[in-house]
Amino acid sequence: SLKEREAWATRIGLILSMAGNAVGLGNFWRFPRLLAANGGGAFMIPYFIALLLLGIPLMWVEWATGRLGGKYGHGTLGPMFYIMARESVKPRKALIFAVIGGMIAFSVTTLLNSYYIHVIGWTAAYSIYSATGAYYGVDTVNFFFDHIKNFQMVMVTWLIPMILLFIAAFRGVSKGIEAFNKVMMPLLYVFAVVLAIRSITIGSPIRPDWSSFAGLNYIWKPDFEALSKNFWVISLAAAGKIFFTLSLGMGIIQNYASYVRKGDDIALSALTTASLNEFAEVILGGSIAIPIAYAYLGPDVVRSGSLGLAFMALPNVFTSMGEVGRFFGTIWFLLLFFAGWTSAIAMYNYLTALLEEDLKINRKIGAVIVFLIYLMLGLPVALDPTLTYFAELDNWVGSYLLVVLGLFDVIVAVWLFKPNNLWKELHEGALIKVPTFFKYVLMTLTPLYIIILLIGTTIDYYNQGIFAQSDPLIVQARIAIIIILVLGAIETYLAISRKYREELAKNQV
Ligand code: PHE
Ligand code: NA
Repeated sequence: SLKEREAWATRIGLILSMAGNAVGLGNFWRFPRLLAANGGGAFMIPYFIALLLLGIPLMWVEWATGRLGGKYGHGTLGPMFYIMARESVKPRKALIFAVIGGMIAFSVTTLLNSYYIHVIGWTAAYSIYSATGAYYGVDTVNFFFDHIKNFQMVMVTWLIPMILLFIAAFRGVSKGIEAFNKVMMPLLYVFAVVLAIRSITIGSPIRPDWSSFAGLNYIWKPDFEALSKNFWVISLAAAGKIFFTLSLGMGIIQNYASYVRKGDDIALSALTTASLNEFAEVILGGSIAIPIAYAYLGPDVVRSGSLGLAFMALPNVFTSMGEVGRFFGTIWFLLLFFAGWTSAIAMYNYLTALLEEDLKINRKIGAVIVFLIYLMLGLPVALDPTLTYFAELDNWVGSYLLVVLGLFDVIVAVWLFKPNNLWKELHEGALIKVPTFFKYVLMTLTPLYIIILLIGTTIDYYNQGIFAQSDPLIVQARIAIIIILVLGAIETYLAISRKYREELAKNQV
C-alpha cells in the first residue's frame, strides 16, 4: 500500500531541516566544555574515530531506514523495524524487534524533549534578559537560580518555544517544519560566525595572559598524557557525544528521512548533514563560549560546569562589554534558542506522526495532543529547581537509551534486513557511491563499538553510584521512564498488529 505522504518541498529545505535536527544545544553548550575537560585537542582523536566508525555509518543506516519506511506510509520506528526485520524473520519475531525499537524511540521523543524544551525556554528568557540588560550589575549565579525557581516566569518563557513548535507541527512538514528551518538555520550560522569572530579577536580586559587566543589554546592544546591515562573514559565520552550530536538513536532522523521523495538522494544528504553539524560543533562551538569566557573570566571559571558557562559565566562577560554586550548576549541566547528549537521540532513531529500514522489521529488534533503531553511531562521538570529529576532523566534517556537504540539500528537495519538490501536502499538515487568499506564496518566494528560503549557506560554509572541513588525525585524520574517505556511498547504493538494483522495471524512460530 504505497500512499501519497507529505514530503519536503525542496532539497535545501531538507538539508537545513536535517541540519537543524542535528545541530542542537549540545553543539554550543556541551562540546567546548567536554573538549576542555578531556584532553583538549587530544579529545578529537577518539571523537573523529567515533564519527567515522559509528556516527557517519549510522547516519546512513537511519536515513535509509527512514526513506524505506516512508514508502510504506510509516514515519515511526516500530513499523519501519517491522518491515526490515521481516526480510529474514517471521512476523511475530519481527514484531518483537519492532516493539523494542518503537518503545525506545517513543521514550526518547517524549522524555528527552520534556526537559530539552525547558532549557530552550531558559534561552528564550535569557534572550530577553540580555536585550533588556536584566542581569547587568547583579550576581549572575543567583540570577540564574532565581529564574528557575520562578515557576511563573519559567512557564511563560517555556510557552514561547512551545507555541512555535505547535504551529510548525500543525502546519506540517513542508509548510511548517521546513519553513521554520529555512529561516532559523541560516540565522543560526550567521549569529555563530559573528560571535566566533568577536570571540577570538578580543584581548582580556583583566589580564594580558587571558586573551581569547590563550583560551583557544587552552581548550585545543592536545594533552596526550590525559588521553592515555583516562583512555576509556575519554573514548566513551567521545562516542556518547557523537550519538547525541548527530541525533542518532532517537528515531528522529528516520522520521525526517521518511518524508524524502522516492528516488531522491540520501547518501550525500546524510553526509552533508553530518558535515554541517560538525562544522557547527567543532569549528563554531569550539570558538565561542570558551575563548570569550577565558578572556574575561580566566581559566578557573572555564573549568566550571557547562550549565554555569552558558547561563552564569557568559552573562558576566556580556556585562563587562558594556552596552554592546547586550547585543552579543542577545544573539548568543537566540543562537541557542534556534539550535534547540530546530531539534525539538523533530521530536515534536515524531510524536505527531505517531498519532497520525500509527493511531490515525488527524495531524492537527495530534499537534494539540502532543502539546498536552509535553505540558504534562514538563511540569515535574519545572517544579524541581534542584534539577535532580532533570539530571536523572538525562542519565538514562539522554545518554543511555540512545545507545541501546543504536544497537538495534544495526541488528535490524543491517543484519536482519541484510547488508546488501541496505546498500541498495542507500544508493537508490544516490549522488555519491559510499565506499563498500563502510558496509563491512557496519556489520562488524560499529556494533562492537556500541556494545563496548554500553558496557563501559554501565560500569561508569556503577562507579559513579548512579544505580545506588534513591532520592525521591530520582525514583520519580525512574518511574516516569518505566511508565513511558511500557506505553511506547503498547502503542507500537497496537500500530503494527493493526496494520499487519493478516500476516501476523498466518504466522506459525
Ligand atoms: N543533536 C542535538 C544536540 O546536539 C540533540 C537533540 C536532538 C536533542 C533532538 C533534542 C532533540 O543538541
Ligand atoms: Na548536534
